[in-house]
Amino acid sequence: MMELIMILVLWPFFLSTITTNAEEMINSPPCDYTAVYNFGDSNSDTGGIAAAFYPPASPSGETYFHRPAGRASDGRLIIDFIAKDECIRKRLPKPDQDLGKALFTIDIGQNDVAFGIRTLSFELQKAAVPNIVSQFISQVRVLNERGARTFWIHNTGPIGCLPVATAKVKDPVAGYLDEIGCVKYQNDVALLFNKVLKEEIVKLRSELTYAAIVYVDMYAAKYELISHAKNQGFEDPFTTCCGYHGIDYDVYCGNKGVVNGSEVIAGSCPNPSKLISWDGVHYTEAANQWIAIRILNGSLSDPTIAISRACHK
Ligand SMILES: *[C@@H]1O[C@H](CO)[C@@H](O)[C@H](O)[C@H]1NC(C)=O
Ligand SMILES: *[C@@H]1O[C@H](CO)[C@@H](O)[C@H](O)[C@H]1NC(C)=O
Repeated sequence: MMELIMILVLWPFFLSTITTNAEEMINSPPCDYTAVYNFGDSNSDTGGIAAAFYPPASPSGETYFHRPAGRASDGRLIIDFIAKDECIRKRLPKPDQDLGKALFTIDIGQNDVAFGIRTLSFELQKAAVPNIVSQFISQVRVLNERGARTFWIHNTGPIGCLPVATAKVKDPVAGYLDEIGCVKYQNDVALLFNKVLKEEIVKLRSELTYAAIVYVDMYAAKYELISHAKNQGFEDPFTTCCGYHGIDYDVYCGNKGVVNGSEVIAGSCPNPSKLISWDGVHYTEAANQWIAIRILNGSLSDPTIAISRACHK
């Protein structure tokens, strides 16, 4: 079921900017965004999958919404924290709305990388990256043609650190895991994706001269959290709150299955705020909030600009 979700929710997209004076942008007034449009996969889905494919299932949503709320988390996602940011008034878009005053957030790539990991050799995964990124960039061009001008583009996260990846590792040879215990070659594909994405965004900025395109190093934020989990108040970063994953079993959050010969129901852990991973793939609300705080002020952005000022270029 999760596989299907991960493959279907695949809407590639985004980015831009000519490097202007960073100081000037930091001192510029906050943008008055009229709406936020998000293009993303299940990491930022607030109900698309639930509306289109599966009804929302418990225990997702339990921490914040106290009911399933169409999100793959116990609570809010990074996009929810973006919408909550004081400068952004999230409203239902009106049909005649000026897209030039809206914020376009894009968070795509994880499914493409995951699909390659499941189906292709390492060499072919790397070879596929430029093509995936080029599809992504062409969708940003399409949005720009339709009037979008402010793009906030997240790169893809450390997929090899997800518990669904690390749970499959048995007797690893030296170098298979990196120094913090993530599957290194999987992260290498994500890093290559991010490198090519950043290069293409730089080119796109010179092409879309009216657009402001911010590249956000989501990978760095997530990797930092996982590296320093214990200092940041979290437990083992490779533990899943809701679900069971092992060498030869996966019981996804909310499902029933058999693990080590016994039937189990994958419910929530007692304290989701202590864990980083909600369901082995997606992050808990506590982790999402930690990450949002790191990225929204612009310290991981290129150019270095807070989301509240991302319309300036
Ligand atoms: C299943 O058995 C393995 C091997 O003994 C163990 O490491 C794992 O924790 C068990 N899983 C569960 C969910 O009990
Ligand atoms: C952004 O916030 C992070 C986390 O609170 C902080 O470490 C960093 O210094 C801040 N950066 C800027 C540019 O304000």
